[in-house]
Amino acid sequence: MNLSDPSDDDSSSDESFTAPAKRSRADTYGASSTTSHGSALQESDKDSPDTPIADNYGSDFQQPGKLRPSYGDRSPEENIRLSRSSLSENCSSPNDQYDDYRPVFDDPEDGEGSGRPSFQDSGDSFYNKNPEQKKNFEETYSGEYSEKSKRMMMNMGFKPGKGLGKFEHGRTQPVEASAQKGRRGLGAKPSAVGALPQDIKEVTEEAKPEAREEVMWLDPAPDEPPSGDILEKWLRRGPKKTTIDDETHFVDPAILKGVLDSKSIFDSLDDEDLRHARFRSNPYETIGSVIFLNRAAVKMANIDAVFDFNFSNPKKQNGEDAVDKKEILYFADVCAGPGGFSEYVLYRKGWRAKGFGFTLKGPNDFKLSDFYAGSAETFNPFYGVKDDGNIFNPANLTSLKEHVLKQTEDKGVHFLMADGGFSVEGQENIQEILSKQLYLCQCLAALMLVRTGGHFVVKLFDVFTLFSVGLIYILYRCFDKVCIHKPVTSRPANSERYLVCLWKRLGTEPAEQHLASVNSILWSDVERGGDVTQLVPLKVIEEDKNFFEYIYKSNCLLGERQIQNLLKIARYSKDKNLKETTQAEMKEQCLALWKLPDAVRTQPERRGHDDTLAAIRSMIKKPAADADSLYSFKTNILNKQPNYLDNPAALKSYFRNVLDWNFVFLSSGKNSPDLRIFIGCGGKQVFQLESNLWRTVVDLHVTLPAKTLIYGEVVKEYRGQGNNQIYSKALHIIDALMLGGIDISGDSLSDRINQCNLFCSALNKPFDNQALPIRTKRLYSMEQFESAVSNLEYRAMKRVKKAVTINTPDRINRNDMFYVVGSVLFLKEIKDPWITAISKSSGMKYYFSMGRDGKPKSEYHIPPDAKMDMLSAYTRRVMWPWEPSASAIFDSQTRESVTRADMELYIASVLSK
Ligand SMILES: C[S@@+](CC[C@H](N)C(=O)[O-])C[C@H]1O[C@@H](n2cnc3c(N)ncnc32)[C@H](O)[C@@H]1O
Repeated sequence: MNLSDPSDDDSSSDESFTAPAKRSRADTYGASSTTSHGSALQESDKDSPDTPIADNYGSDFQQPGKLRPSYGDRSPEENIRLSRSSLSENCSSPNDQYDDYRPVFDDPEDGEGSGRPSFQDSGDSFYNKNPEQKKNFEETYSGEYSEKSKRMMMNMGFKPGKGLGKFEHGRTQPVEASAQKGRRGLGAKPSAVGALPQDIKEVTEEAKPEAREEVMWLDPAPDEPPSGDILEKWLRRGPKKTTIDDETHFVDPAILKGVLDSKSIFDSLDDEDLRHARFRSNPYETIGSVIFLNRAAVKMANIDAVFDFNFSNPKKQNGEDAVDKKEILYFADVCAGPGGFSEYVLYRKGWRAKGFGFTLKGPNDFKLSDFYAGSAETFNPFYGVKDDGNIFNPANLTSLKEHVLKQTEDKGVHFLMADGGFSVEGQENIQEILSKQLYLCQCLAALMLVRTGGHFVVKLFDVFTLFSVGLIYILYRCFDKVCIHKPVTSRPANSERYLVCLWKRLGTEPAEQHLASVNSILWSDVERGGDVTQLVPLKVIEEDKNFFEYIYKSNCLLGERQIQNLLKIARYSKDKNLKETTQAEMKEQCLALWKLPDAVRTQPERRGHDDTLAAIRSMIKKPAADADSLYSFKTNILNKQPNYLDNPAALKSYFRNVLDWNFVFLSSGKNSPDLRIFIGCGGKQVFQLESNLWRTVVDLHVTLPAKTLIYGEVVKEYRGQGNNQIYSKALHIIDALMLGGIDISGDSLSDRINQCNLFCSALNKPFDNQALPIRTKRLYSMEQFESAVSNLEYRAMKRVKKAVTINTPDRINRNDMFYVVGSVLFLKEIKDPWITAISKSSGMKYYFSMGRDGKPKSEYHIPPDAKMDMLSAYTRRVMWPWEPSASAIFDSQTRESVTRADMELYIASVLSK
């Protein structure tokens, strides 16, 4: 038995994971799932380190697709081995929390001083009353037993050399304490740390732990990304190699041997002892998972902070923001279940980040309902064309690329995170070799999905082989800045490390295509034992001194650190009294540096509609006048009907200065039930206001982040004409007060519309046929009226002969969809006393007012006090109903209403003044 990595990796998750300590998902994430960290702890308490392992085999606990043998089916060794495998950290396992917060770690070991009532001292014990026997006992067993044990034995009538019982016929030797823990296999060997290999010495004088981490950067590659021809020439295929101990090109041979040897000293140390020792010896261990679903999320927070928050807030090389204000942050998270990394990003960015997740289906799939810290409305799990989430499958990768590019305007994501790992139980030493396709595919995904200038972070284990180093070399040529870093949240005695690549270069397509073809080779040759042994020749790597020395040094430093930490765990396993004293201090300092709260995970409070409305009302900067209660807010403000434009004379009173107004085309007419205020209370909890009641939006699959209040309409979007016509529904946002807790009520109308556009881009799921598309209305200024109306089209409808229609506003997927125009809605943007004017000299709009001091003021940007807030604009809105005589209005052939010609004439007359 060779436990290669007692301190475990975050890697050992996957469907083959059969750790007995793993509880079925329903335990932790099911309907009765933990609602707060407190209750999670309670569950964990039940599984305290002393819980018999067999307890974890619920009789009906079964891995999908495999019937789990009962505990009794296993040999004692197997049981210990399995139990040990549960040590390998599995980010996706509910047990992570259990591991991270094991509440009994500093329990005194049982026995002395445990103070159990039945063993209590009494001053007048038999032992104290029989000094003769006491002396005899002490002479015989001096030093072997503690005072307390001796006293207990004497009190029970034990005489040295004599058996117990009436005739002193019992066994004379004390019964040995059982080394068996719980119901672990009887006969299992006692848990013990093996002897240290010769030539390995522990340095016990460690440097004081630090919260601040230093990054060792690789100097940028002077050469551009390699061409396809060169990469082709460099490639070597060969038979599969499954040994690692001769991989000494990129590491000091003594260190490689040390890493491999020092792991074996844990071969007969059991799982629990190892975990206890690991917990006590790591200064950063108690940081745990904080507010997130697992420790992995905190690891990403740690990495993000170390790299100046370049993931959650990417910067260009010149320090400017890489995400434009009119854009959301796009990220991808591959090999990512259950999704802690993404939960972290969403925690930072809310709906302003849109994530594309890709991971194997199965027990480690995404657990979106467990995203408590960052909600998942803008997260899109995708499993590829094969629908299994296997990143090795070339067809899946191609479809992932198409999926992501289509939703990012063909640009790709701002950054990609990859944290893949799977169980390598029993073959831990060759984890790197077994993970080569995982390394390859995650890097390939980055080249496929990350936009130029974007970032990439990927988890790697050892990087001793030419294949791995060649892969890193290719990335070094494809990104401007690259480093290998092991964050403090990555357990110090495992081989995990992260490759961080910043600013993807131009011209990486050949490398992408090449890695894709290497993956196809691995994918098809894997059964036949064929392999790719080299991506870049050793000579090329050695000639790049800068790169070669960096890898060599990094491997030596990380290897040395790993050895030292394995030895430290061994020391802590032997001496149960040892404990890192800096854990509390490190936790406090790290959380401060990473800008995380020192709090526990709690389920976000789910508010109902009225509570959400009350919360929104209390949060907005521009509260409504005429609404001193929630009731009056609903009645006087939200339920206020629009003003109706129904005769030409009203034009002048509504639109004194037309330039202060904008308009949108609605599908709803007067009193349409589809035109509503919508409130989002989180996820599918979306309601629409009808009179003063909220009605569930049941038949529409729409999800909105909590604390969202929008004004919108449900629109029938048509495709085709006449009898071939089909339609589907969509939600069109006209204006919004608050978007996922972000108050936009005081922004100008144009800014609010920009925010709504971002919101829709973030929320839309064009690949999900069930999801209701959500779009923002196109806002026109009044001087665009003539051109906007002339772009309307008559189209033949299924039931009516023709209707006035407009193309659907869809920024991402240009399509041929349209909707019927039922009215025009006018919204005022500029607040009195300001007015909008057009400069005669520059032709640009400017904003003008007379100041209180009597002096004129004019500005090219809307001054803050000229912005009409959302609620004011909403209550003053004007509707010009076109239905039921839309064509008459459009063709200006009616006298009963305002016609298109009336409007055009009026606008022209005001503008010419
Ligand atoms: C350590 S976990 C990732 C944890 C994740 N970063 C988080 O924050 O929760 C490793 C993940 O890699 C996934 N994985 C392993 N092999 C994969 C493959 N071939 N394709 C896709 N995902 C894979 C596993 O299923 C598992 O979900």
